[in-house]
Amino acid sequence: MHLRISEPSSMAADDVRAMRFTITANSGDERWSDVLNYLRATQDIAQVSLPPDFNFGIPSLPYISGRELVGTVVQAPTASNTRIRNGDVVIVPSTDYRDLRKAAFQEYSIASSFNAIRLPHSIPQAQGAILGVSFVSAILALGINMGVDFSSIENGPDLLAIVRSIDPSRLPADIRNECLDGITTEERAKQGDFLVVWGGSSTCAHTLKQLARLAGLRIISVVDTAKHGLRLSSAEPVRPDLLVDAHDPARAVAIIRAATKNTARFGFDTQGKDTAAHLLRALASKTLDALPEDESTFASTKPTAERLPTPPSTPHEISTSPRSHLVGLTGVPKTNIPEDVALHNVPIKLFHEIPEVGEALCAWCERLLAKGLLLPPEVVGTVEGLEGINGGLERMRRREVSGGRLVAVLR
Ligand SMILES: NC(=O)c1ccc[n+]([C@@H]2O[C@H](COP(=O)([O-])OP(=O)(O)OC[C@H]3O[C@@H](n4cnc5c(N)ncnc54)[C@H](OP(=O)(O)O)[C@@H]3O)[C@@H](O)[C@H]2O)c1
Repeated sequence: MHLRISEPSSMAADDVRAMRFTITANSGDERWSDVLNYLRATQDIAQVSLPPDFNFGIPSLPYISGRELVGTVVQAPTASNTRIRNGDVVIVPSTDYRDLRKAAFQEYSIASSFNAIRLPHSIPQAQGAILGVSFVSAILALGINMGVDFSSIENGPDLLAIVRSIDPSRLPADIRNECLDGITTEERAKQGDFLVVWGGSSTCAHTLKQLARLAGLRIISVVDTAKHGLRLSSAEPVRPDLLVDAHDPARAVAIIRAATKNTARFGFDTQGKDTAAHLLRALASKTLDALPEDESTFASTKPTAERLPTPPSTPHEISTSPRSHLVGLTGVPKTNIPEDVALHNVPIKLFHEIPEVGEALCAWCERLLAKGLLLPPEVVGTVEGLEGINGGLERMRRREVSGGRLVAVLR
């Protein structure tokens, strides 16, 4: 049965209870989790199976998946000024998931030339295949959401300057506000600022930390240290300034606030709304709401009358202080948001919808790779052919893939 739910939250309980079927399709909507949670809670349905796409957006069926690839160019653009030639091996971050011709899981794929990154011979193709989406996500989060200017690093992009110099009507309506007003000039992240990464073991975090370090940011990485601590603190390219264990989130927040003296203004979460909410409390904010509901959950000792939380600043102080900025890759908290913390989603479609942005990102990525300034994530396994992909997904479902990515090799 194909179920399309337009307004899950408004469904009457009886309507939901009347459903006795297996949900199989039409996912990619964050409200899915609300529906599934409700159905599970009522225990009133025969079976609920997760959507087949592990919650990735599938706009229509039948569908071709695969969001990043490395391949050899067999038909290059004819324009004389293109970087791309026949025979080049290119990385393609296929962020345009609505265009099935661009999907990775097929023998031939197409890509816009401004979305193709030439892979240096020194980097194995399998490693190149897992860099693209993490690179695009990381640089847009840093360059647009946090306003980092990369122009002093290998002639990198100043993305805010690019998007603010083009005709606003060309920017997709749903990300226009983020591009034009998401962060003020004074608030932009710069050398020496703290960046807290929650979920620092993920692939996107791997790339983001390298780019942030190039820009001189100081990185605090929150991870399961039992699982990832040694690997992350041994690997020079991704070694943070401070590694914090995520096991006790309140303690992690307390450590970050103490280490930064409550000055960390930038946060990047790779996990979800709950961890983004923890991260929010680790960022600088003068608003009382930014403090935990119960300060004792943070402190190593019980608060006394003398240690009561600092009262909120006056509105005047709030308006003149630079805000903090929290970027959520998979969601941001919805409630208890302090006035002086701005929440952001990554405007990923800039990459494939605005050629100036795509070209600037790809050309810079090529230079970083060629100079060894950016290392792709780890390949932690491979599967053979399209027929190996389902088995690979099963391994991911069993949590067997950690610290990098599986690569499907198509011959
Ligand atoms: N909004 C955007 O534009 C955008 C862009 C890129 C990515 N994303 C999303 O951001 C998140 C992070 O992306 P990523 O590529 O950096 O992540 P990733 O490297 O693929 O995985 C991140 C971590 O998730 C855990 N994990 C692995 N398999 C899992 C499973 N089956 N169930 C639950 N957890 C599992 C692993 O943690 P352990 O190693 O500790 O087990 C892994 O290190 C993903 O949800 C992705 O879909 C969003």
